[in-house]
Amino acid sequence: MARPRLIAAASAGLAACALVFQLGLGAQAPDIEQHINALIARMTLDEKFGQLQQLDGHADGRNREEHFDLVRKGLLGSTLNVRGAENVNALQKAALEESRLKIPVVFAFDVIHGYRTVFPIPLGETASWDPEAAERAAAIAAAESRAAGLQWTFAPMVDIARDARWGRIAEGAGEDPWLGSVFAAARVRGFQGTNMAAPDRIAATAKHWVAYGAAEGGRDYAATDMSEHALRSIYFPPFKAAVDAGVATFMSAFNDLNGVPTSSNPFTLTTVLREEWKWDGLVVSDYKSVVETINHGLARDEADAARQALPAGVDMEMISRTYVTHGPALVKAGEIPVPVVDEAVRRALRLKYRVGLFDRPYADPALEPATLLKPEFRAAARDIAARSMVLLEHDGRTLPIKEGNRRIALVGPFGDNRDEMMGNWTGDGRREDVVTLKEGLEAALPGAQVTVARGADLDVKMLWPGGAGDAAGAAALRDEAVAAAREADLVVLTLGESGAMSGEAASRTSLDLPPFQRELAEAIFALKKPTAVVLFTGRPLALGWLKAAAPAMLLAWFPGTEAGHAVADVLTGRVNPQGKLPVTFPRHVGQVPIYYSHKATGRPPAADDKYTSKYIDAEWTPLYPFGYGLSYTTFELSDLRVSAASIPSTGSVTVSATVRNAGAVKGTEVVQFYVRDVAASVTRPVQELRGFTRVTLEPGESRRVEFTAGPKELGFLDRDLKWRVEPGEFRVRVSQSSEGGLTGAFEVR
Ligand code: GLC
Repeated sequence: MARPRLIAAASAGLAACALVFQLGLGAQAPDIEQHINALIARMTLDEKFGQLQQLDGHADGRNREEHFDLVRKGLLGSTLNVRGAENVNALQKAALEESRLKIPVVFAFDVIHGYRTVFPIPLGETASWDPEAAERAAAIAAAESRAAGLQWTFAPMVDIARDARWGRIAEGAGEDPWLGSVFAAARVRGFQGTNMAAPDRIAATAKHWVAYGAAEGGRDYAATDMSEHALRSIYFPPFKAAVDAGVATFMSAFNDLNGVPTSSNPFTLTTVLREEWKWDGLVVSDYKSVVETINHGLARDEADAARQALPAGVDMEMISRTYVTHGPALVKAGEIPVPVVDEAVRRALRLKYRVGLFDRPYADPALEPATLLKPEFRAAARDIAARSMVLLEHDGRTLPIKEGNRRIALVGPFGDNRDEMMGNWTGDGRREDVVTLKEGLEAALPGAQVTVARGADLDVKMLWPGGAGDAAGAAALRDEAVAAAREADLVVLTLGESGAMSGEAASRTSLDLPPFQRELAEAIFALKKPTAVVLFTGRPLALGWLKAAAPAMLLAWFPGTEAGHAVADVLTGRVNPQGKLPVTFPRHVGQVPIYYSHKATGRPPAADDKYTSKYIDAEWTPLYPFGYGLSYTTFELSDLRVSAASIPSTGSVTVSATVRNAGAVKGTEVVQFYVRDVAASVTRPVQELRGFTRVTLEPGESRRVEFTAGPKELGFLDRDLKWRVEPGEFRVRVSQSSEGGLTGAFEVR
């Protein structure tokens, strides 16, 4: 007798065939647009608005009973959170066998940095400066997601973020439009491949459109206000890179932008997206962001919210139900034109075609167990996590851990912690899959004895005034840790934030470590034992005191499922650290927003001149600059050459230099290329990243690296918002971070 699952697959296949012929898609390769229009012509107004509704299933992936009824009536086009072949197929069956038009449901989920195999948080993964790694991680996430019955992820998040108080800085690619654009495109390619209908690909979403990361005060969901020049120069580029990479959908954001909420903003949603960029994908709102235009003070009521959002360009409404509730009446009243509705429906159906739902609407139940957590997926997660880590401090002795270190004290709240290794937005990642730091170290150093001492509690409630808990309890934990450290040859001291301390709705007024961690660290340092700090965080932290005290410090971000092995790989030198910061680390929260590509001002900071742009109570420079990261070896740059002293505005110049591994171990350096337009009709930043390359060299080995600077690298938006290259002096820097390195210059005539 055929196994039940084979029967399910067979019936699914028959139903799909029936659907294909039902819609006349059988014989010839369908002209999608023709079939979409034919379908729209048959839809009632209610069914049209039904396709524009997305509702959420239970957090564990199960359907909500109500959704079956809505689907049968053609009043629900998409869900988020519903996942797992069984759950997906149950709702899909209702759509295909019990609705009038048999339009398949499209299933979405927040697969931000992995589905079941969880990769480093996106900010951490960006620190690899390896877009191929990000593409690989997204492709693995897509394969697992599709196997679990999903066809759409709400990722990549591509918001530029320059304010570490904003918890969602963890989810993106950091502060720089150039680096952010490279990673946005890589992640879209990874999720979608060249055919998002393939059995291992899904549709991607560029989010949150737009400028969500510029929230006032770093407070999540707060208003944003900026010039169109800043909007187009800083916040648009990663979204445009996603469009150029073929991203299937956008998600409109929560924030008020220059007085018009982004989930009802005709300028960003239609003028830019549709008229300028000619993009034909689907815009889905963020969670209730349509109805929240009432809270913003834009819409009078729910009907008004629908009346403004749909024509502005939000095609599908997530969670709130203003479209299905008020849409038909608004159309009948002439307040929303039918063509506007039809165009939104067209985009929703186009998405469903593009992800292959009209050909293969059902998930194969056999695929999920065979795909999730494949050994090669775990291996990729381990490799990418290790290469995402950033060596912040290195005294040259403490790390890498030598074989001879027999007794290791693993001190701090992360050492034996299965719950805090994946960060936030962890998809379907499960704690039982996670490799802890203790397990990683024991596997990497079989002869060592690893003793664990928590040293301090870790809970987001501790951040609230008075929430830190009792000092006596903290002292007891600290004493226990000190006792363990006394017996050890080496201390691995884990510090940082919990995953819940960053991500959505997790803004902070401070960038300090959570309570009692500084006291723990200082007690450990006082022992004068070899001590390596491993830092877990989703955001830059203000670590001035730690920088001064730590002999070695590795920034691990939140490394994901393979955390323990990845951290141990770096601590033992199996992987030579190569990560570089995609965000600036400030000395103090008072410096925020702080970023490398800042303007010069009329009074550039000068230590010997009071009346220049700096602070009277702290250094104005960052603690760790954008692009910074150390290695177990040392690299030297020399012999910078600029191919021409002068070029026409349409010309380009090649800038080259030699990079050499001057140390004793093989390593990888990320050589960075920065440009400055010294004088222009709109003031330019003191420098802007315009290229980078990863170079792996054996000890003593040298290599020439080359960068090209042409109109794409040298141009900017002028006062009329037109892209141009202006004549004048340009300075270039080839370096190992946004500071130092070799400089040169040339003229555009
Ligand atoms: C959340 C987030 C968004 C996410 C959506 C669905 O509020 O802002 O990034 O994709 O809702 O979970």
